[in-house]
Amino acid sequence: MCGIVGYIGKNNIKEQLLDGLKELEYRGYDSAGFSIMKDGELYSYKAVGKIKNLVEKAKDFQVEGFGLGIAHTRWATHGKPTEINAHPHFAEFSSIVHNGIIENYQSIKTQLEKKGINFLSQTDTEVIVKLFEDNLDNDAFKAFKTTINELKGAYATLLLTQKEPKTMFFAKVGSPLLIAKNDEEIFFASSDAPVVGKAKKVIYLEDGDYGYVKDNQIHLYRDNEETKLNWSDLPKNKEFAQKEGFRFFMEKEIYEQSNVIVETMIGRVSEEGINFEELDKNFLDGITNITICACGTSYHAGMVGSYLLQRNAKIKTTLEIGSEFRYKEPILTKDTLFIVISQSGETADTLEALKMAKKAGLKTLAICNVDNSSIVRLADKTILTRAGIEKGVASTKAFATQVMVLWMLSNYFGNINEYEIFMKISKACEVTEKLHEKIKRLSKRYLHGHGFFYIGRDVFYPLALEGALKLKEISYLHAEGYPAGEMKHGPIALADPELYTIALLSKNLLFDKTKSNIEELSSRDSTILTIASEEIETTDDFIKVNESNHYMIEFYEMMIITQLLAMEISIRLGNDVDMPRNLAKSVTVE
Ligand code: F6R
Repeated sequence: MCGIVGYIGKNNIKEQLLDGLKELEYRGYDSAGFSIMKDGELYSYKAVGKIKNLVEKAKDFQVEGFGLGIAHTRWATHGKPTEINAHPHFAEFSSIVHNGIIENYQSIKTQLEKKGINFLSQTDTEVIVKLFEDNLDNDAFKAFKTTINELKGAYATLLLTQKEPKTMFFAKVGSPLLIAKNDEEIFFASSDAPVVGKAKKVIYLEDGDYGYVKDNQIHLYRDNEETKLNWSDLPKNKEFAQKEGFRFFMEKEIYEQSNVIVETMIGRVSEEGINFEELDKNFLDGITNITICACGTSYHAGMVGSYLLQRNAKIKTTLEIGSEFRYKEPILTKDTLFIVISQSGETADTLEALKMAKKAGLKTLAICNVDNSSIVRLADKTILTRAGIEKGVASTKAFATQVMVLWMLSNYFGNINEYEIFMKISKACEVTEKLHEKIKRLSKRYLHGHGFFYIGRDVFYPLALEGALKLKEISYLHAEGYPAGEMKHGPIALADPELYTIALLSKNLLFDKTKSNIEELSSRDSTILTIASEEIETTDDFIKVNESNHYMIEFYEMMIITQLLAMEISIRLGNDVDMPRNLAKSVTVE
């Protein structure tokens, strides 16, 4: 995820761009930059790290009067977070910013290189601006249209060219982009946040929209026809804007999952097979087993991974909690691949475990959401989860993408391709209004009582652990996750009507066995909410997931339901969903 800003006007253009970027810093901040077109000249600045570094670098650059500007804050996907890879990217006389991923950038790049065109960066974005200039005869808009028609993937992009110094070109597919205006200025941005309080009217662009702004006139093309501009009013409150209309960041992040899961897969999953450009072909040479080490939610993702790696890749996989691993005097052998999982990349226990593994000479791999974090810098190899910044303290989309990476890895190591199933996951993660309303209504019955059991088998066991963790983090109610078959070995003693059981019942995996475990609890009068594709008699409440032919599709649908349930219970109890008591987003202490 990255953020882009555009400005056309005469009101302190540099500050407009930098202020806009600061509002979008939540979308990524490993580097930033801007280009300003003033009297036919392009002036550009870039810096690695947070926006404040860019502010410092451009502090002596003064620009007054009318101009056009584009700016970008980056969350690296292709290429490391260096100044060269930071946006804007340039060709001879044009400059571009882009949010998204161009899937066919490699083939375009090869084609342009054959024509003698050189590339400076490792990014997919540079190919757009180089392709634009290659397509340019004398009609810049025509060249821009031809260029975007050749792109596959997702993009929100703004382009300036000295060949038409009074025009800004824009296009959107997949990644967000809006146009906003007041009487004298026009803005572009990835979300409302930079324009709230500055502009009055907004158009949220749709996929496939493109066009240009010239002489304060916006020309918007939809379905290749110039279309009328339908403005709506902008919200007035900034925090409301950052949350894009959702009540909490957690809610926004739950809804984002169907998109970020696609980001995680882009360039990695295709019909031809699973590909990780981060790993080389010989990565598993000398490896006979895997150890996964993590904390909290990341540990739960690791547990899902341990089932999938053993099943799909047939590699013996063990699992460790970071804080336990450090002091258990583990026996470390060099035939072990040591995988650490961390959203933040800064968790002290996971980082220390990684140091121990490295010291013992093990091959290490990090699955992480934050590039350039301590864990990423230390591990031999990293696969980024691409969830974008997660603001809610209770992790949701980071978990979804961690599981996705581990599942893809199990296919990659096992030389199999569950392509058809991968393609169904984004849809499985969509939150429908009907589902959300049902959970909202149901949540009022689950506010009291003396605790919750979340139960499931196989990968639904770690999902039960994660569901219970979500609930306790934000509702402060007592909840435990259990393997469904383990209840009769003790915990079932607690069963009574005030003990709520959330049962994850898969149609595709151990259906009869899990059903029997639910019946054992129901005959002890526990109150049961079953999440399944078909209702069973012994349940009190029921939330339906869609019929499907694979347990991972059910997994993701159930994940969404458990996250929403925890959130709706927490909201009813009047808690601060995004900042629950006693917790922190990044746990850098032991
Ligand atoms: C729960 C949660 C925590 C983290 C844990 C590890 O919602 O977010 O349990 O998963 O503190 O953090 P990372 O993944 O940053 O290493």
